Amino acid sequence: MESSRSDAFVFFGATGDLAYKQIFPALQALTQRGQLDMPIIGVAKSGWNLDQLRERARDSLEHAGGVDEEAFKKLVSHLQYVDGDYRDAGTYQQLRKLLGDAQRPLHYLAIPPSMFTTVAEGLAKSGSAANARVVVEKPFGRDLQSARELNQILHQYFPESAIFRIDHYLGKEPVQNLLFFRFANAFLEPIWNRHYISSVQVTMAENFGVRGRGRFYEEVGAIRDVVQNHMLQVVALLAMEAPSKDDNEATRDQKGVLLKAMRDVRPTDVVRGQYRGYRQEDGVAPDSQVETFAAMRVYVDNWRWDDVPFYIRTGKCLPVTTTEVLVRLKYAPHAVFRSAPSGPPNSFRFRLSPEVVIAVGGQAKVPGEDMKGKDVELIAYHQPPGQMTPYQRLLGDALRGDATLFTRQDSVEAAWEVVQPALDKPTQVYEYEPNTWGPAEADKIIEAHGGWHNPAKEAIPPKPDDEA
Ligand code: BG6
Repeated sequence: MESSRSDAFVFFGATGDLAYKQIFPALQALTQRGQLDMPIIGVAKSGWNLDQLRERARDSLEHAGGVDEEAFKKLVSHLQYVDGDYRDAGTYQQLRKLLGDAQRPLHYLAIPPSMFTTVAEGLAKSGSAANARVVVEKPFGRDLQSARELNQILHQYFPESAIFRIDHYLGKEPVQNLLFFRFANAFLEPIWNRHYISSVQVTMAENFGVRGRGRFYEEVGAIRDVVQNHMLQVVALLAMEAPSKDDNEATRDQKGVLLKAMRDVRPTDVVRGQYRGYRQEDGVAPDSQVETFAAMRVYVDNWRWDDVPFYIRTGKCLPVTTTEVLVRLKYAPHAVFRSAPSGPPNSFRFRLSPEVVIAVGGQAKVPGEDMKGKDVELIAYHQPPGQMTPYQRLLGDALRGDATLFTRQDSVEAAWEVVQPALDKPTQVYEYEPNTWGPAEADKIIEAHGGWHNPAKEAIPPKPDDEA
């Protein structure tokens, strides 16, 4: 694995939404940390000039937390721009010229996947792909077949070690913490298996709709948009074995093994929903069958997890915006210690966003003569200030050639395999009211395991300093 630093940063889609919302803020942060002293070249076809791109960068930063004038000055002094069609060889010749002496450029394709092939080819033909890294945005393909084809195409020009597939969830600190917390704490490992855990739930809820992205969403739907990638990645971190070494591939090897052990979903494991009003969104077909909600039961067929269901649920227009994991343990064996006939069981709760919480749920005795318990939760709030944003972290890693937090080909394909039956034969789509937890049908798949845990607004207590 090549691990020398990249010496130029090229981003295709420089005038687009992703550059505006994520890339410029990440570039400013990397500049502040002294990690971006190199040519930074934006490429797009917008009829713009460099001054307009600089203006756009400033505007982006003003909307994303502020301009650090010193860093900004440095950033724009490196910034260059190629305005050209991705199909035109001239675009790549201009780029090649601007790359100058750079030997190991990093090319970030922040463009629709339909353009990946054209750009990869253009880079190769102009001699800009040699020794280069390429970062590609999700979705990586739209099913197993297209992901394989895309891999084949990219592999014509870039070896696997030079391909960095972004899943921004992996750049989130609380998501990385799932793996760390599991294996850094000896109290968890002995119980983290089928003998003690009865079920695992992951909910990724958003209290807004498709926000003007109807046209994009019609091509995708919730399963492709977030289940195949963000949510299965979270499940993988909750379930995989510990990497044996601290290097790029050890973590990705274990994750690949886990995803390959995941059983393909059956129709009875999947419930799809669509919020009322989706069909009236811009760019959405009046009879659209695309899901804005998906609930799924997946199993990992290995020694540790045999028969333990992992429930996944995501949706737009749900009551809150949050991502939360709930791991339910099995019941205590003696009925004396249960307040209700069957529960509630002990649990671990990991709130991944917007707040970051690790909580242990249990039962404590209610004072009095009876052996009665009530629910209590030991909660640790864990949100140190000054964290890197996912894009800052991931782009910094890619520049260093560290692929640990990027999705490798085998994992991408294994994750597509898991959801492929749901894409091949989509089950009925049920309408649900906005601001509810999706269609009632979704409750059925989890009935046997105590029902869904609906994350509530987290009441973060004030810090001692905040108290008057
Ligand atoms: C993106 C999806 O990958 O993740 C969006 O395309 C979704 O539909 C977003 O809203 C959620 O990411 P985050 O970081 O805001 O939770």
